[in-house]
Amino acid sequence: MPRPASTPLAPLQKLFETKRGKRLPLPPKLARLYGSLRMPQPRKHPYVLSNFVTTMDGVVSLNVKGHASGGDISGFSAQDRMVMGLLRAIADVVIIGAGTLGADRQHVWTARAIFPELADDYRRLSKALGKSEAPLNVIVSGSGEIDLRLPVFASGKVQTLIVTTTAGAQRMLKQGVPDAVEVRAMRSSVGTIAASAILEEVCRLSPGKLILVEGGPRLLGDFYAQRLIDEQFLTLAPQIAGRDTDDRRLGLVMGQAFAPGETPWGTLRDVRRGSSHLFLRYSFSESRTSRI
Ligand SMILES: NC(=O)c1ccc[n+]([C@@H]2O[C@H](COP(=O)([O-])OP(=O)(O)OC[C@H]3O[C@@H](n4cnc5c(N)ncnc54)[C@H](OP(=O)(O)O)[C@@H]3O)[C@@H](O)[C@H]2O)c1
Repeated sequence: MPRPASTPLAPLQKLFETKRGKRLPLPPKLARLYGSLRMPQPRKHPYVLSNFVTTMDGVVSLNVKGHASGGDISGFSAQDRMVMGLLRAIADVVIIGAGTLGADRQHVWTARAIFPELADDYRRLSKALGKSEAPLNVIVSGSGEIDLRLPVFASGKVQTLIVTTTAGAQRMLKQGVPDAVEVRAMRSSVGTIAASAILEEVCRLSPGKLILVEGGPRLLGDFYAQRLIDEQFLTLAPQIAGRDTDDRRLGLVMGQAFAPGETPWGTLRDVRRGSSHLFLRYSFSESRTSRI
């Protein structure tokens, strides 16, 4: 099937907005493309955002070789990349799991990397907010089976923290760890690290308060399980992926199944439209119970 054409970069149309938080000083071009962006005032504990794109039937990865990326879900939407860049530009930290790194091995998680054409505007925004141009990139891996020669570790474009287990750290140290990479080992007998422990390690290294979780679904599931997500940005792409009974297409959250009555419920805060995509923003702060 041919790759769907990239949608042109037109301004998003605001359909619904709640005026909570402080309006951020977006440079004119970003203000024209996105509209106003508000964020809560800094607090004592970190504010955790997540950003994903999903099909209408809830698939976030086709999980097919060469087509496992978020781009395959968004139809390579320029507007979705613009929003991804915007959130990276205001974030102090971007956290991803090893599976997401594996699906996009040459990437670094910066605004510039996802939308180079707007790099100057993103840089101006980060600077106006007193943030460094590139957020701290955090990679979570229980096994430690990651290739430290990848650009996120070895290009020098970002500072990177790897949160892993003691066994994972031992495995990694054998490769030789590049200068820009910090490795933190957590005790875990099962290979899974609690999301709260990940967040604690991140906060120890980064004084920043705005943390962006870009997934994937397993990592996000662990954050929702501990009620650590304050807001979900969700782009709804107008496609139906479908699922076979036994296929491995991934939903927004994997590895966690919430019991009836225990499912996190969000509150709709913002809706914007870009062509046939919807850009949704939900708050989960009310259901957030455990904090660091
Ligand atoms: N549509 C979107 O917006 C979007 C966003 C992000 C990702 N994705 C897609 O999602 C797919 C990847 O899915 P995924 O669920 O495998 O992604 P993932 O959560 O990024 O990766 C899972 C792996 O990350 C590590 N990990 C995650 N949480 C951990 C924890 N709490 N403790 C220890 N290790 C942890 C483990 O690595 P080890 O195996 O090394 O222990 C685990 O196997 C890719 O196709 C990617 O493109 C889509």
